[in-house]
Amino acid sequence: PRPILLTRHGESQDNVRGRIGGDTALSEAGELYAKKLANFVEKRLKSERAASIWTSTLQRTILTASPIGGFPKIQWRALDEINAGVCDGMTYDEIKKNMPEEYEYVADFSRKKDKLRYRYPRGESYLDVIQRLEPVIIELERQRAPVVVISHQAVLRALYAYFADRPLKEIPHIEVPLHTIIEIQMGVTGVQEKRYKLM
Ligand code: F6P
Repeated sequence: PRPILLTRHGESQDNVRGRIGGDTALSEAGELYAKKLANFVEKRLKSERAASIWTSTLQRTILTASPIGGFPKIQWRALDEINAGVCDGMTYDEIKKNMPEEYEYVADFSRKKDKLRYRYPRGESYLDVIQRLEPVIIELERQRAPVVVISHQAVLRALYAYFADRPLKEIPHIEVPLHTIIEIQMGVTGVQEKRYKLM
């Protein structure tokens, strides 16, 4: 069996300010995580010559991968975070204030009522993200060697659900904490999972 390691990027400056989306660099804690992750990966995948590191095209995942030595790194647009459209760069409080009906309260299409299908104006829904991940999943399935995927909360919820066989409706609510590696092992007896909380 070969492992797939899933992790969010290290804490970003936007994470600290509670802003969604964006393309900021890492906080100090995020930089520390990047170093710890590099240590972990270099040990865990020591003799795995064909392993590779996959990131999104956003700074925070590229910077998280940067201390890792010895493996090729590949950037995928399909691994970019859910596009929050007009809400990109806002905090959840600002969204509530600016678009209370649509986002939070009564409307049938509000995000609270149907987080899976809710599409940010000029952005994406979870269903959109799940769809654009298809080529990534096909490629992940095809790989024989271990892969480290450094991506984002919404994207990793979808990827994790695919491998852990979780139902569609749970996807937007799965917990994928920062600074934690989820290791998935695909063997003959099914899928096994381990979590490593590095900080
Ligand atoms: O807050 C970090 C973040 O990755 C945002 O960029 C993104 O919009 C959000 O998480 C996705 O999580 P949720 O769907 O729960 O808002």
